[in-house]
Amino acid sequence: MAPSAAAAAASSILLLLLALLHPAAAAAGAARHRHRLGASLRAAPPDASQPPTTFFEVDRPIRPPRGSAGPCSTLLLSGTFGATYGRPPATAAYAPPACLADARARGAGLALAVLEWSADCRGRQFDRIFGVWLSGAELLRSCTAEPRPNGILWSVSRDVTRYAALLAEPGEVAVYLGNLVDKTYTGVYHANLTLHLYFHAASPPPPQQQQQADLILPISRSLPLNDGQWFAIQNSTDVQSKKLAIPSNTYRAVLEVFVSFHSDDEFWYTNPPNDYIQANNLSNVPGNGAFREVVARVDGEVFGAVWPFTVIYTGGVNPLLWRPITGIGSFTLPTYDIDITPFLGKLLDGKEHDFGFGVTDALDVWYIDANLHLWLDHESEKTTGSLLSYDASVLDFNVNSEFSGLDGQFVTSASRHISATGWVKSSYGEVTTSFYQRFSYENSNVFRENGTVQIVNQTIDAKSGIFVKDASSVLLSGEFHEVFPLYLYTGTSDKVGDEYSLDSLVKFGINEKKTSGGKLGFSFSSLQNAQSARGTMRVKKNLVVRGLGKTHQVYKYVGTDGCYFRDVSSRNYTVLFDRSDDSCSKGAYSGASTKLNNQSARRKLLVNKL
Ligand SMILES: *[C@@H]1O[C@H](CO)[C@@H](O)[C@H](O)[C@H]1NC(C)=O
Ligand SMILES: *[C@@H]1O[C@H](CO)[C@@H](O)[C@H](O)[C@H]1NC(C)=O
Ligand SMILES: *[C@@H]1O[C@H](CO)[C@@H](O)[C@H](O)[C@H]1NC(C)=O
Ligand SMILES: *[C@@H]1O[C@H](CO)[C@@H](O)[C@H](O)[C@H]1NC(C)=O
Ligand SMILES: *[C@@H]1O[C@H](CO)[C@@H](O)[C@H](O)[C@H]1NC(C)=O
Ligand SMILES: *[C@@H]1O[C@H](CO)[C@@H](O)[C@H](O)[C@H]1NC(C)=O
Ligand SMILES: *[C@@H]1O[C@H](CO)[C@@H](O)[C@H](O)[C@H]1NC(C)=O
Repeated sequence: MAPSAAAAAASSILLLLLALLHPAAAAAGAARHRHRLGASLRAAPPDASQPPTTFFEVDRPIRPPRGSAGPCSTLLLSGTFGATYGRPPATAAYAPPACLADARARGAGLALAVLEWSADCRGRQFDRIFGVWLSGAELLRSCTAEPRPNGILWSVSRDVTRYAALLAEPGEVAVYLGNLVDKTYTGVYHANLTLHLYFHAASPPPPQQQQQADLILPISRSLPLNDGQWFAIQNSTDVQSKKLAIPSNTYRAVLEVFVSFHSDDEFWYTNPPNDYIQANNLSNVPGNGAFREVVARVDGEVFGAVWPFTVIYTGGVNPLLWRPITGIGSFTLPTYDIDITPFLGKLLDGKEHDFGFGVTDALDVWYIDANLHLWLDHESEKTTGSLLSYDASVLDFNVNSEFSGLDGQFVTSASRHISATGWVKSSYGEVTTSFYQRFSYENSNVFRENGTVQIVNQTIDAKSGIFVKDASSVLLSGEFHEVFPLYLYTGTSDKVGDEYSLDSLVKFGINEKKTSGGKLGFSFSSLQNAQSARGTMRVKKNLVVRGLGKTHQVYKYVGTDGCYFRDVSSRNYTVLFDRSDDSCSKGAYSGASTKLNNQSARRKLLVNKL
């Protein structure tokens, strides 16, 4: 079954609350057609004197390595996305740029590859999810910005160096952006997709060459399709998979997972339990509680999981919050890596294996696919391996539910631990890899004032680690720790006919720490990226008729590869202040403990036994 048109757009929490207020009215609505909020305040005619607004996501700049040459830029695809929903993706043949072949001939390695999406739109339109694939492997998952009558511009850049193996081969670029255009929703998206390449002056030393995989196998749907190449997962028992055989000389394997959630699960972390919905006869409120996880299975066995970051799309909660500073991760959705090297012993038999994805407690719809990054032994035709230990205990899950009528409190907690150790014998020797993932989750979901106020406070904590050794030494030891805090308040009031008001407060972010040590040297990074957004709006049907949004974001990155700090705030489409700094020196910006010299980085690593 094709996902409904509603699934094409990221939507809004508002109808959920509206439905809570007026279950009968919501039930009377056409068969579960979920409405969304239109972007523009008014269908005002364009004003030539007003320039288009530039929207942006705060992120650290992608910098080419020192001494590298470039960019060599190639336009991959130029597309117009009008009535594209349920139609085949826009495609273009891909030929590796001549500069890439020239560099290879000179022995100069690829230093950096950046994929840039730059787009414009004018009028009124919903936020639309889109994906970019090269030869079936997804390179970018993103959400469009919502336009204004005078037009908007935005661009998104993603470091795609890790796909060097794909970029070196001819293939096909596909972009699916399912848009619908009518008299009200007039916005047509125009976009250019460009690849920028930078090269090292000479061939980098062999350990660096090993950073990128030799082969990338897509775990996605093949064209032709009237949809994106992602799998659409519609319920808790739906598992979508692809069978593939991996080369028999593979010595390392990493699964990179792309995830986005839409329609009934766009705000999964706000969904109440089903008994609350049943007791209150709510027919149009998505349920299944507030916990979700993506589980990756190979031949039915759990190899890893993703507890996703709560991306809020550009029309989410109150669309006015995300103009021009968009929500964290909304223009470049995060991807999630699972190292499956310990399991290679089970996969090196030359036969096809089933790589599948499911979502615990899912409601319609989750778009998921993955890229399998494989490192091949150029010195031998066959590697061998064996799994030494494996522990994937079941999900530990608990809900405390208390409610009376439409008011109540639901406290949900969950945890999971997956670990595996295995060896692979190749021309590099017998190398043993251990990989673990440890997750914990806590969500408090409170309904007050007869269900008109909802307060969600959630924390996801995801930790993973890798330890690689051969007979004589430790080759790599690394740890990655992510914490995703979220606080969301929404209050509905002054409901008159098909109009209501909504106050909202959103605070969320990503805190991550990464340490790694081994043959490639030591590295450390720490990111604190937090947004606080507050807004009000008056909604009629599914259009915002007036309102105001204010957003403040602080981004602090400190790493052995450099530093970046930004403190930016906007209100009513206007940037109030914008301070940034990319020096790592002490006092470069106030209040931030960002001094990181090489010594402190090393001390940090020692603490982590590296
Ligand atoms: C609470 O909301 C329900 C559904 O909207 C409504 O029928 C009921 O009258 C409300 N109760 C109070 C006390 O306002
Ligand atoms: C796409 O590229 C063309 C040609 O350079 C340019 O005219 C157009 O403005 C670009 N469009 C966007 C949305 O960047
Ligand atoms: C879940 O989704 C799958 C795939 O669309 C479908 O075949 C199956 O019937 C659904 N199961 C339930 C219980 O709705
Ligand atoms: C829900 O519907 C049933 C049957 O229509 C009715 O008996 C019950 O009172 C309703 N409950 C509420 C809370 O409206
Ligand atoms: C959310 O919950 C955490 C942990 O329970 C608590 O420390 C924090 O203060 C809460 N946040 C808000 C805004 O209530
Ligand atoms: C670490 O030291 C090297 C050389 O001494 C220097 O180039 C680099 O910038 C330093 N890194 C940081 C984060 O200070
Ligand atoms: C928001 O900005 C618009 C101009 O872009 C202005 O007309 C409007 O009055 C502003 N609203 C508020 C509440 O500041």
